[in-house]
Amino acid sequence: MLAWTTDPGAPGGLTLAEVPEPVPSEGKLLVRVEAFAPNPGDIAALTGAPAGTIPGWDGSGTVLQSAADGQGPRPGDRVLFLGLASHGWAQHRAVLLATTAPAPVDASWEHLATLPVPATSALRAVRRLGSILGRRILIVGATSAVGRFAVQLAARSGADVVAVARDESRHAELRRLGASETHTTLATVNSRVHGAIDMIGGQHLVDAYALLQPGATVIALGHAAGADEHFPYGAFIADPTTSDRAITSFFLGSEPHLSEEMTFLAADPELDSGGLDVKPWTELADWIDVGAPRRSGRVVFRVDHADE
Ligand SMILES: NC(=O)c1ccc[n+]([C@@H]2O[C@H](COP(=O)([O-])OP(=O)(O)OC[C@H]3O[C@@H](n4cnc5c(N)ncnc54)[C@H](OP(=O)(O)O)[C@@H]3O)[C@@H](O)[C@H]2O)c1
Repeated sequence: MLAWTTDPGAPGGLTLAEVPEPVPSEGKLLVRVEAFAPNPGDIAALTGAPAGTIPGWDGSGTVLQSAADGQGPRPGDRVLFLGLASHGWAQHRAVLLATTAPAPVDASWEHLATLPVPATSALRAVRRLGSILGRRILIVGATSAVGRFAVQLAARSGADVVAVARDESRHAELRRLGASETHTTLATVNSRVHGAIDMIGGQHLVDAYALLQPGATVIALGHAAGADEHFPYGAFIADPTTSDRAITSFFLGSEPHLSEEMTFLAADPELDSGGLDVKPWTELADWIDVGAPRRSGRVVFRVDHADE
């Protein structure tokens, strides 16, 4: 079968190569990959990966072979999947049943491919804030893939969603998705929040922490700015109006039940993954080579199986 493999000398650090067919170990099934949408983490992981590695965490496709114990989806079933040990940018992949979910027949491969990493991250982060019904929740980096799902899930959970995104031209879209307030910068958020999810880091994390009510938490989910965090003297000196505030780190794969969460998210026809820029998978390396640009939605690659 064909797969993208890391190759330090090639454009984008990748070569489309013939590789051995994956053999599913215990608890895994074999999937024909139809689409994948690279995450920032996938692209970051290319640096330093040993030559010949098949990158890619998540995607959507059709089951070719069930797990050995016969549990879970059957051959021909549509699924979405997330493998924490990559191997996704290939025509076929072996993936754990525990990180695979059934997909509705009417959901497109492209939409399904946008869900596993970003939507489960958003779901887990929103849940970590506890009951948010009627509470002000801050989403920083709301136009990111994770952020736009977090806006939708927090709004559905009854939160009063305060969305921060630097691109003002996308604020109307964020309001349509459920944000009740939109800002280009945290400096204009003028009332404190019950909880926050930050995809950007750097000064954004420092400013989000300063906006927390007593007892509130900011989840440092992402670090898209690639910047250091410098907290001014006094940031952690508490009085009754600033006590017990917390910053917590986050890793998507730290808890079980990914399959149940992906099933829930895939079954939701209202969940909006945004405008999709669909490309043939042969363009993957060139796209990474020019810096993995995205306009306003996710870039999704369709896997070609014409040679099979
Ligand atoms: N901890 C985990 O388990 C986990 C899971 C998933 C994702 N993540 C991390 O979460 C972050 C978001 O992931 P994603 O898939 O949602 O990313 P994404 O769709 O690529 O979005 C990145 C966002 O960052 C914004 N951005 C980049 N640099 C910025 C800056 N200097 N100031 C303000 N905004 C900036 C971009 O704004 P524009 O839209 O204006 O370009 C974009 O909205 C990434 O760091 C990712 O690695 C972590």
